[in-house]
Amino acid sequence: MKDLHQVSVTVNGTVHEVSVESRRTLADMLRHDLGYTGTHLGCEHGICGACTVLVDGSPVRACLVFGVQTDGRSVRTVEGLAARGGELSDLQRAFSRHHALQCGFCTPGFLMLAEAFLAEYPEPSEQEVRELVASNLCRCTGYQGIVEAIKETADERARG
Ligand code: FES
Ligand code: FES
Repeated sequence: MKDLHQVSVTVNGTVHEVSVESRRTLADMLRHDLGYTGTHLGCEHGICGACTVLVDGSPVRACLVFGVQTDGRSVRTVEGLAARGGELSDLQRAFSRHHALQCGFCTPGFLMLAEAFLAEYPEPSEQEVRELVASNLCRCTGYQGIVEAIKETADERARG
């Protein structure tokens, strides 16, 4: 018999009631039970960061968190970055301008990581941005465009 638990989780502002097994990861719950397939899975053991989402505003690796741990909490995924009408956020537009993605597989994780980082450190140095992005793996871009996009977004936001 399956070991099912009722979870009430808010994802990008929408409340979901979902029944999940205790071993179901947050990444699988988001992708398979709730349809938020923008969260990508690479390594599935906490190394690559492709699965990064925000839980109550803090970045977590969704492959290392169980879905049941988000009961009563608020999750933000890459689908929650754009405006309701589909207009990309300033950070997403900067990624596009700076060619901060090629295959795009790592991109949701970098975007969510950077979103949380900029909320906490609104005026980072380039070195701080470089240290931030070292936590996630990108096999395509060489990171330069990603660093430029995050730095430019910070600078734009600081200018208002
Ligand atoms: S898939 Fe979660 S860290 Fe790689
Ligand atoms: S853009 Fe391909 S892995 Fe980062």
